Amino acid sequence: MFLNDNLKIFSGSSNPGLTSAVCKYLRLPVGGAKIQKFPDGENSLKLEDDVRGRDCFVVQSTCRPVDQHLMELLIYLDCLRRASAQRITAVIPYFGYARQDRKDEGRVPITAKLVANIVTAAGADRVLTIDMHAAQLQGFFDIPVDHLTGELVLSDYFRAKRLSNLTVVSPDVGNIKMASRYAGHFGGDLAIIHKKRVSGSEVEAKEIIGEVEGRNVLMCDDIIATAGTVCSAANLIKDRGAKKIYICATHGVFAGQALERLSQAPVDEIVVTDTIPLTEEASKVGNIKVLSVAAMLGEAIKRTHRNESVSSLFNAI
Ligand code: R5P
Repeated sequence: MFLNDNLKIFSGSSNPGLTSAVCKYLRLPVGGAKIQKFPDGENSLKLEDDVRGRDCFVVQSTCRPVDQHLMELLIYLDCLRRASAQRITAVIPYFGYARQDRKDEGRVPITAKLVANIVTAAGADRVLTIDMHAAQLQGFFDIPVDHLTGELVLSDYFRAKRLSNLTVVSPDVGNIKMASRYAGHFGGDLAIIHKKRVSGSEVEAKEIIGEVEGRNVLMCDDIIATAGTVCSAANLIKDRGAKKIYICATHGVFAGQALERLSQAPVDEIVVTDTIPLTEEASKVGNIKVLSVAAMLGEAIKRTHRNESVSSLFNAI
């Protein structure tokens, strides 16, 4: 047995499969709680376990339906605080609203900061999350944030494939750091796409800086939302003579036309993690593979509970 009765892990309704897998890793039961709806649509929550003086974690991705899952997380945090939990960690494998993180034009909100504020106000003492859109979003919180990365599991998977003649592609300039780390892991070359975002769902891959002709390509991103970014990049890369094209991303949001685009794109495999559960529709796209972050999250929870280093987890990459 890893841990004692002092640790409690609860699950929001966004990703119960991931919470169960985390609890399995830790050899703990999922904390008892009843989440229900009042007739008018409001959420109700009742904890079935005693949490007084306990170290409590609530696992909830703020994926679709985003506002519903966010509100549920806040209600959980409030409930745990009022039930006298000793410490509360919001485990947010996928942190939604993260992409609106600055005022890049007048009269727009900064939703990432807003969500950081309300998660803290609702009662979180700590946050444990994975690949927020930008690492500096940690600074939006005035409580400790452990920021894990899906690279741990994704790079293990691609290392085992032993891809030869490899170019790692960043589908935009924002991802260069991540792509260059991948290139470092696998000893591949690096290429970068110059991307122009036409609208929230339309993207044009304009040019490639780097060599892809006759090469196998691994393209990495933090998130696939409408898949405009990775699919336009894949089309350009294929046109320029790439051999196999693999895509990896931590969060498979798969919104809008994503599945249609991915099934038509010249891509051999799309690998994401289970920070967001795969919909039935997405599981029908034959070349989408899902890797689990459960062991990584479980290990981070164990270390947080024992006040051990979480960052040393990354030495494994
Ligand atoms: C952009 O900065 C991100 O890293 C992703 O490339 C982007 O959010 C993906 O969105 P979509 O799949 O809708 O193009």
